[in-house]
Amino acid sequence: MIKVFAIDSRDKYIAELKRALFYYLGLHCVTRSTVKEMAPILELFPYAELIVVADHYDHPNDLRKIIATRNNYLPMISYETTEDVVVLIKKIALELEKSLDLEALKHKLHLSQPYLPISLSLVSGMTMTPSDLFIKIGKGVQANYVKRVQKLDEIDPTVLTKLEQGSVEYLYVPDNEFDLFSTALTNQIIDGMSQRQIETSHKIGKQAQGFTYIRKVTEVLDFDEQFIEVLNQSIDSVNESLRNDRPLSHLIKELMNRKDSLSFQCYYLTNLICFHLLQKLKLDINNNLKTLISASLFCDLGQDQSELLLVNSMEEFHQMNSKLTKEKQEHILNHARMNSSWASQIPNIQPIVSTIIKEHHGSPNGIGFEDTMAKQINNLSQVFVIANSFIKYFLNPKYQFNKKKIIEIMQNRYTDAQYQKIITELTSKIE
Ligand SMILES: [Fe+2]
Repeated sequence: MIKVFAIDSRDKYIAELKRALFYYLGLHCVTRSTVKEMAPILELFPYAELIVVADHYDHPNDLRKIIATRNNYLPMISYETTEDVVVLIKKIALELEKSLDLEALKHKLHLSQPYLPISLSLVSGMTMTPSDLFIKIGKGVQANYVKRVQKLDEIDPTVLTKLEQGSVEYLYVPDNEFDLFSTALTNQIIDGMSQRQIETSHKIGKQAQGFTYIRKVTEVLDFDEQFIEVLNQSIDSVNESLRNDRPLSHLIKELMNRKDSLSFQCYYLTNLICFHLLQKLKLDINNNLKTLISASLFCDLGQDQSELLLVNSMEEFHQMNSKLTKEKQEHILNHARMNSSWASQIPNIQPIVSTIIKEHHGSPNGIGFEDTMAKQINNLSQVFVIANSFIKYFLNPKYQFNKKKIIEIMQNRYTDAQYQKIITELTSKIE
């Protein structure tokens, strides 16, 4: 989880700091060049633990003001631009009370080269890797890296499946080959999603890989050109699939029988319902479908655990409230508002997408879950609320995939005339 935020305008130093932080302390670090750029990001992380700033940073008083208005204490380390990254890492470890045997680690690094982790779920869709991939055995200084995938060979999917079954979450890439690996990964994701003549199931697998990549990068707010390319290709690919594919019921069945994550199922099925509702309501598909796909990509960031993802009403929230930490309760109630701000940080995302994300549980201010108030939110948000709510009920085993029963619940819940009209169109489509 992200705890450290750094303000520094020197690209090379920042790249080194990020790598070292991840390698030595296992921490993601969000970086920006100026206080102005960092201010909206700090709002997204109410539980941030540390901010580090280079001594050339601008507007020091603005930063102090921001820190003073936070509910939770945020310590700050300021460092000289001549400071070595390793010295800064030591200070950060000390501040966060993390144990760091730097000498032992350095000794270890001297004997073998460092490795960086890559999520196994991303590697699973690859056909070839330009670098060897390793698994890590043991922890800290005692860790050993054992090769599992040979570079330039075709990747044997059964090897990855076995690792998945053994609850392996990460594979490791030699540090000096990480950029090469990362480029190959994004190229394979983009190529997979842009292929036209492949069967639906294979295409959905590639789109699921694109979805995982986008969500993982977005969570650490680390956008580069490769990310933008994957994002654009992903939205185009899903847009095209929804328009050209088979009947709705076939696709729902196909999605339900696959082994993709629940988050991806929710994303794809919400898009599917949105597409059919736009058609039924005679709303402009060319202008609106990509907007709704983008909203669907980011509306539930940080809610990947099923018990969080499937919460769909204040009633459901109160039922599970006592089992959740205060942090999770706050996140569920505020995720629409927070994720809307989060999306506004992503390059190329239109303001209307942030609006729909904020209103995606029917609340104009993005807090909680509303049953009515349709008139106060955007027309497209209303379509999204109904599509997303239907899918949340549908994926929740509590409702036993019973479409008729779910529609009844929704008719009794969303009593406003505009919602009722959308539900009527939905009913005629799924019967
Ligand atoms: Fe949500």
